[in-house]
Amino acid sequence: LPRRRFWERALDGPAAELLFAGRRADAVRALEQELATDTTVTTSGAVYLIGTGPGDPDLLTFRALRLMQQADVVIFDRLVGDGIVDLCRRDAERIFVGKQAGDHSYDQSEINQLLVTLARGGKRVARLKGGDPFIFGRGGEEIEELAAAGLEFQIVPGITAALGCAAYAGIPLTHREHAHSCVFITGHAPEQQAARDWQALVRSQQTIVVYMGAATLDYTAKRLIEAGLAPSTPLALIERGTLAEQRVAVGTLDQAADLAQRSAARPPLLAIIGSVVRLRDKLAWFGRERCAAGSEP
Ligand SMILES: C[S@@+](CC[C@H](N)C(=O)[O-])C[C@H]1O[C@@H](n2cnc3c(N)ncnc32)[C@H](O)[C@@H]1O
Repeated sequence: LPRRRFWERALDGPAAELLFAGRRADAVRALEQELATDTTVTTSGAVYLIGTGPGDPDLLTFRALRLMQQADVVIFDRLVGDGIVDLCRRDAERIFVGKQAGDHSYDQSEINQLLVTLARGGKRVARLKGGDPFIFGRGGEEIEELAAAGLEFQIVPGITAALGCAAYAGIPLTHREHAHSCVFITGHAPEQQAARDWQALVRSQQTIVVYMGAATLDYTAKRLIEAGLAPSTPLALIERGTLAEQRVAVGTLDQAADLAQRSAARPPLLAIIGSVVRLRDKLAWFGRERCAAGSEP
């Protein structure tokens, strides 16, 4: 380990007591033993592909936080909130690769290349991703290049938006009386959805979660109704789920266009479709204080 990191570990672990007791050789042995069994420690360049959850920093995993504290460079985009980036090592270099009006934004191949170059240069890189890196997060693409280049990497799962938003909105995605299965789909542009098997989505007792669906929710709802889903099927739109500004709008599938129009200005937005949405009446908990104060959580 670099000298500074060695001493950080020495002063923060079980070796510290031995060190302060003057047992220097025992302290070094204890530290070596600790480092040998700690799989988060790497001595060369590496990329940590870290799922940071849907927004609330409290939903980070312990492993995510540990690796964020070790990284020399942090690469993040729009879905990763400031509150999360702030938890990275204070002196780590921060690189924003998301889209911002007027700025150059990195395309996927440039991000992949950046990760390879930094890891090759001996840097420990935390690549932060909203939610889980392997759920509509292109995590696979980024790691493929690293693997092909023979570089070291780790993958840390995160709480995907469907799970985080459902929990904070009080909507269980499965429930013995309502849904025995759940599917995650994206609401990409209609031409990209042309080949979708809509019938397969319309199963009884199945919850459908739509990611990236704000702009096309009306289209998605119409296709689902055509495929046989009742127009009266409950629908919840969750804006900025798990964050203090979370808002949940509830209606039915045939009201999708209207609901989406009212929510469109506050991305990110997730849709949950299915009778489980009704359970929110009993199970909503997050933001109750604000509700009592008159705002709409
Ligand atoms: C490119 S996908 C990334 C998904 C991410 N990898 C995950 O596992 O959650 C982005 C979409 O996730 C959903 N999303 C992510 N965070 C959200 C949040 N806090 N509230 C509502 N939707 C969210 C939205 O549908 C958004 O358009």
